[in-house]
This record gives sequence, C-alpha cells and structure tokens, in this order.
Amino acid sequence: MNIFILSGAGLSAESGLATFRGKDGLWMGQPVNDVASLEGFRNDSFSAHIFYNERRWDVLNVVPNAAHYALAELENMPGVELFHVTQNIDDLCERAGAKHTVHMHGEILKCRCLMCAKIFEWLDGTSNVTPCPVCGFTSEWGGIRPHVVWFGEMPFYMDRIERQLKACDLFVAIGTSGKVYPAARFVKKAKREGVKTLLINKEAPDNHSLFDCMRTGPASQLVPEWVAELRASLTV
Ligand code: OAD
Repeated sequence: MNIFILSGAGLSAESGLATFRGKDGLWMGQPVNDVASLEGFRNDSFSAHIFYNERRWDVLNVVPNAAHYALAELENMPGVELFHVTQNIDDLCERAGAKHTVHMHGEILKCRCLMCAKIFEWLDGTSNVTPCPVCGFTSEWGGIRPHVVWFGEMPFYMDRIERQLKACDLFVAIGTSGKVYPAARFVKKAKREGVKTLLINKEAPDNHSLFDCMRTGPASQLVPEWVAELRASLTV
C-alpha cells in the first residue's frame, strides 16, 4: 500500500512545541510577516534572528512522542510504501528513527548563506553579525538565515510531492489546520485522483469535510492506534 502522510504542528504539540494557530499559538499576537518573510527579515532582522533562535532552542529541548515513533515504525512496515511530508521544521521524526521524512517548510537545525546559498547544520543562535561559515559573507542582516520557508517563498520538494499525490492509495493528514497553502490543497488533489483520505487531528479543522474519514483526538494516541490497525490488517 502506498501511503502519503502530510503532518503539521499537531504531531509535535505533545512533545511540547507550540502550534501556530492554537490559543497559545506562535502566530497569535504577532504579525506573521514581521518574522516569517524576507521583507520582515530585511526590515527587522534582529527580531527575526531572535524568533528563530527561540524555535531552534525549543526543538533542542524536547523529545519525540509516541506519534513520531509510530510513523518511524510505519516507514519500515512490510507492505507499506510511505511518503511522509511534514510542514514541521523540527527533527523529531528523525530522532524517533525515521530516515525519509520530507521537510517541505525546511529545517530549523540548518541555516543557509544569504550569498553562496550553502546549507549547513546549525545548532547555535544566529544574529546580525553571524558570518557564513563557508564563504565568510556578512551584511547588515548577518550572513546566514534559518533554512526554513517564509511566507511568499516556494516550499521545498514540490515536484516530488505532486508525483507522490498521484501515486498514493491513501492520503493521511495528521495534526494540521489545513490553512496554509500549498499543503492545504493536497487533500483535494489526492481526492481528484480517487485516493481515500483520512484525517487525524485533535479537533475538526475547517477543511474536515474534504476527508472520507476523520479520527479526533491526540496524535500521540491516535497515530500509534492507526499504525497498529494497519499492521494487523496487512498481516492477516
Ligand atoms: P496549525 O497551528 O495551523 O494547526 C495545528 C493543528 O494541529 C490544529 O488543527 C490543531 O487542532 C491540531 N493539534 C493540536 N494539538 C494536537 C494534538 N496533540 N494531536 C493532534 N492534533 C493536534 O499548524 P500547521 O497546520 O502545521 O508554516 O501550520 C502549517 C504552517 O503554518 C506551518 O508549517 C507554518 C505556519 O505558518 C511556515 O512557517 C511556513
């Protein structure tokens, strides 16, 4: 069975990482474009560096939850071809053992040079005076930026994602509000190809009627349950 998973902030919420649009979400009380766009970075790179330093620090101080481990197990399940694309910039899937998670919105534990565009692991803070460690470039904004997708920028791996949407037998969305494009469009594209669709989310998001089936509750409980059911169904 060819399974396409789209995950979002709800997958990592129980590890202790804030979601974006919840009550205490990262975007509540803060104009998104101030920190999460190229324009915002150019206007006030100081605040943008601090915002992403906090995100990096948060990620380094949490651990994967049961949902991350269940998805890592799914990667190796006989009879399953898994394509997992996440909007999350954390590395919790990898720390749970996954090897093929596709990060369409980038990775907070990486940075890239504003000039030479080299991408490298980065576990420290960045600031307006951090030069590129590869070419030495620096500017009034610093030399490097977090390797994440900002509003107005194209997410990564879109060609692969489009191909996999056409090839899958089951589309599963986990812990995502369906408010951010292009990811919010994936379920419609999968449906157009005749693919069955399942939603696993804490509560019904606005786009829930697009799914054939919905399971509501915490990902740390529902994802391992669903993976166990799948394992049982594939071994009978
Ligand atoms: P949101 O914060 O918009 O939505 C998180 C979803 O997870 C909501 O529908 C919650 O109900 C659900 N949720 C919360 N806790 C959960 C739990 N324990 N178990 C299951 N579901 C839970 O986050 P995303 O949809 O991931 O992009 O946001 C998408 C993108 O918007 C992000 O990648 C980010 C943001 O702007 C960029 O920064 C480019």
